[in-house]
Amino acid sequence: MPSRRQFIQGTAAMAAIATLGPALPALAVSEQGLLQRAIPSTGELLPAVGLGTSRTLDVSLEDDKALKPLLEVVRTLVNGGGKLIDTAPSYGRSEQVAGALSQRLTARDKLFLASKVSSTGREAGQRQIADSFAALQTEVIDLMQVHNLQDTATQLALLRELKEQGKVRYIGVTHYREGAHDELIEVLRKEKADFVQFNYSVAERNAEARLLPFCADQGIATLVNRPFTRGNLLSKVKGQPLPAWAVELGASSWAQLLLKFVLAEPAVTAVIPATSNPRYMAENLRAGQGRLPDARQREMIVAAFG
Ligand SMILES: NC(=O)c1ccc[n+]([C@@H]2O[C@H](COP(=O)([O-])OP(=O)(O)OC[C@H]3O[C@@H](n4cnc5c(N)ncnc54)[C@H](OP(=O)(O)O)[C@@H]3O)[C@@H](O)[C@H]2O)c1
Repeated sequence: MPSRRQFIQGTAAMAAIATLGPALPALAVSEQGLLQRAIPSTGELLPAVGLGTSRTLDVSLEDDKALKPLLEVVRTLVNGGGKLIDTAPSYGRSEQVAGALSQRLTARDKLFLASKVSSTGREAGQRQIADSFAALQTEVIDLMQVHNLQDTATQLALLRELKEQGKVRYIGVTHYREGAHDELIEVLRKEKADFVQFNYSVAERNAEARLLPFCADQGIATLVNRPFTRGNLLSKVKGQPLPAWAVELGASSWAQLLLKFVLAEPAVTAVIPATSNPRYMAENLRAGQGRLPDARQREMIVAAFG
């Protein structure tokens, strides 16, 4: 829960933001000015820009050259008011690296660590989750998600037990393909979950039709993966000048336009772009500051990537 000071600052910032018009559905902002949104099941505020780790954190713990920029990525996340790191046992060494970086920065209490289970059967799930606790070097994992709906009922039951024991704070389910969105909804109708993670971007807008409204209606927090469709959207505009109107949104890069497009959806709790570059991390965090696009500006962003 936010401290009294954070709440008052957030309230003052909200009042200031409100004068900018109705385009920004902020609940609060951090001391650093980063948009925060409430997790519906508890009201806890979560900074709306986090960090994905698929591929980017999959380096050797012996490789100081590779670890150095990653340490700066996480330092930049925390110093910029961010918290959320999303990882998974299937991302190679990413969980171990996330755990090691959190320790090196003595930042565990400033982070919101999310991982996943991708196993079949209760015992295999238990073993994998035990390994995640060890890799992340933590007693409590903030969010555990059933990865890509693998063996969902069994694994969610396991996660629910861990939540009851206080070892996991929130539970959820994930997918990364639009073809699975309806299945996510079916699961969430049957199984109580705090979070759902899925793909959403200017190139993959399926979630707007049913999934995002469903989550808003049911009070389920949403994490958006693949905001750059794994970097492909950014390759498309590489070297092209930003449109002049980007300045109206306070955006200074194509990446920020893509993230602001996602964050303008009020049912999005947080977006988790992956990066191994501290400069990109800072840039991505700034997308969670200032104005968000209104409906007309969102369509202009879509057209710019058309
Ligand atoms: N099923 C699932 O649960 C599932 C599936 C997919 C993804 N996810 C989660 O969602 C996260 C994000 O998805 P993703 O990693 O597939 O793709 P993404 O975030 O759409 O794209 C990542 C790529 O964008 C580049 N990038 C990041 N910020 C940039 C910036 N400001 N300017 C230019 N390039 C930038 C990165 O390059 P650099 O490395 O050079 O920084 C990286 O190659 C994953 O890492 C993972 O945590 C979960």
